[in-house]
Amino acid sequence: MIDQIMQTIKQQLEQQLQFENVIVERPKRGFSDIAIPLFNLAKHQQKNPKEVYDKIAETLTHPFISKTEFASGFLNIYLNRKLFSQVVLKTIRTEKEHYGDQKLTEPQKIALDYSSPNIAKSFGIGHLRSTVIGHSINLLHQKLGYQTISINHLGDWGTQFGKMIVAYEKWGDEAKLLASPIEEMQALYVHFHDEAAKNPDLDQEARDVFKALENNDEKYIKLWQWFKEESLKEFDRMYTLLNVTFDSNDGESFYNDKMDAVVDELDKKGLLKEDEGATIVDLGDEMPPALIKRSDGATLYITRDLAAAIYRYRTYHTKEILYVVGNEQQLHFKQLKKVIELLGYDIEIKHINFGLLLTDGKKMSTRGGKFKRLEDVVDQAIELAAKAIKDKNPNLENQHDTATKVGVGAIVYNDLKNERHLDVDFNLENMLKFEGQTGPYLQYSSVRMESILKEHTFDDSTIVDHLFQNDHYFEIIKLLAEFPSLLLRAKEQYAPSIIAKYLMSLAQSFNRFYARERILVEDKTILNTHLVFIASIQTVLNEGMRLLGMAILKEM
Ligand code: ARG
Repeated sequence: MIDQIMQTIKQQLEQQLQFENVIVERPKRGFSDIAIPLFNLAKHQQKNPKEVYDKIAETLTHPFISKTEFASGFLNIYLNRKLFSQVVLKTIRTEKEHYGDQKLTEPQKIALDYSSPNIAKSFGIGHLRSTVIGHSINLLHQKLGYQTISINHLGDWGTQFGKMIVAYEKWGDEAKLLASPIEEMQALYVHFHDEAAKNPDLDQEARDVFKALENNDEKYIKLWQWFKEESLKEFDRMYTLLNVTFDSNDGESFYNDKMDAVVDELDKKGLLKEDEGATIVDLGDEMPPALIKRSDGATLYITRDLAAAIYRYRTYHTKEILYVVGNEQQLHFKQLKKVIELLGYDIEIKHINFGLLLTDGKKMSTRGGKFKRLEDVVDQAIELAAKAIKDKNPNLENQHDTATKVGVGAIVYNDLKNERHLDVDFNLENMLKFEGQTGPYLQYSSVRMESILKEHTFDDSTIVDHLFQNDHYFEIIKLLAEFPSLLLRAKEQYAPSIIAKYLMSLAQSFNRFYARERILVEDKTILNTHLVFIASIQTVLNEGMRLLGMAILKEM
C-alpha cells in the first residue's frame, strides 16, 4: 500500500514540476515513512532544496499523509498512522488468505518445469532444490493470477536405459531389485561401467538395445516400464513429504514419437548440418553446436527438450516456460533458447538456475558422503524435530506428523532463505533450531499467535487506532502493508528468498512486540485491537509460509 502512495506522489510531482524522474523512496534511517531527495529537483528547478520543498510541500495532499518536513535536503513524509493502520487491518481481515492475490484481466499462462529427477537413479540433492524452488515459484504465480502448468520432466529416456537393460539381463536379480529398487539399479549401472571399461563391446550392445527401445521393442519396453514404476514409488514418497504434485509427469520418453517431426522441422528450415556422421545445429561462435542426433541416429537430451518446448507451446498455449535447473546446465538452456529462436517460435525459455547444497563447505553428495539417500537426510531432519518437540511439548498429540512438518519445513526454509543462484549451506542441526533464521522459528511464531487467538473471540469493527501511533505497532503495520508489492517483486525476480526474508522480519518484529507489550490486557477494546492485529499478522505469516511450501501448524 505504501508503494501505491509513493507511486501517486511520484506521478503528481512529475506532472507538477515537469520533471521526468522524481525519486520517491523509503528512508533507511529515521522515522519518516517516505522520503524525497530534493537535490536533483533543485538543480532542475534552479532553486535551492528548501525552496523546492516550500513549493511542493503544501500541494502534497493525500489522505494518508499526516505531515511533511524538510531535513538535510530531503522532503520527509509521515503517514497518518491511525488511518493507514485501520485500512491495512481492515483489508487483511476482509481478504484473509487472499490478501495480496492479484486478478489479471487477461489470464496469463506459464509452464514450469521442475524437480525432474532421473529414473533408475536416486532423487538427488539438486532435484530437491529444484522441487522446493519450483514449487514455491509455481504457488506464487498462482497467487498472482497466472494459470500455471507444473511439469515433472522425468529423466526416463536416453542411452543409459540401454545400459541398464543390458546390465539387468546379464547380472540382474529380480528379488534384489524389488527389495531396494534404486540402490540395485544404481549398482547395476556402476557394474556396467566397470565391465564396459574392460569390454568395449558392451557399449555397442547398450546402444543397440536403446535403439531397439526407441523402436518400441516389447520386451525392453516392459523392463524399462518396470524400472520406471519402481523409481516413481520412491520419488512419490518424497513428493508426499514435500506436499508437491504436478499437472504433468510427461518425462523425456513421452517425446519419443514426437522427435522425428522436430528433426524434420529443423531440416526444412535449413538448420541441420552433418558433423562426423552426427547431426547438429551450428550456433555460431558464441557457443558449441547443439547435438541433435548421434551418428547412430539416437536422439539426445536437447532433442527431447526441443520437442517438449514445442509440445508445451502447442498443447498448453503458453509462451513462457520456466526451467528450474541447477547452474551446471546453463549452456544447455542457452542452446535450447537459441535453437527455439532459430526455429522462429515465440516461446520464452527461461532458465531459473540455482547453486549447490554444501556440507562443511563441500558439495553435498548422496554418493560416498554421510548419507546414502536423500530420504535418509529427510528422515534425520524429522528425527531431530521429533526430539526437540518431545523436549518442549511432551504431551503433544500426533508428534510424528508435527515432527514431519517441522523437519521438512526446516529443509525448505533453509533452501529458500538464500538467493537461489548461491550455494546453500546444509547443516541439519542449525536449520532445526527453534531460534534464529529457521523454518521452525517461523512455524513456532505462528503457533504462538494461534495459542493467543484460539482462547478469545474478537470483533473486527472495534479498533482503538491510537495504539498504532506507537512505533512498535506501526513498524509491523508497515510490514503487513508491504506484502502485496513484495510478492510482485518476488515473482519478477523468481525469488522465493524475498518472501522468506520478509517472513523472518515479520516474525521477529512480532516476537519483539510480544516481549514488550502485554497482549491480554483488562481493557476490552485494547484487548480486541490486539487480537485483530495478531490475527492479521498470522494471516500474512501463514500465507507467506504456504507460498514457500511450508506446513502451517496449530500446535508444536
Ligand atoms: N533430468 C534432468 C537432470 O536431472 C533435469 C531435467 C530438467 N528439465 C529439462 N526440461 N531439461 O539433470
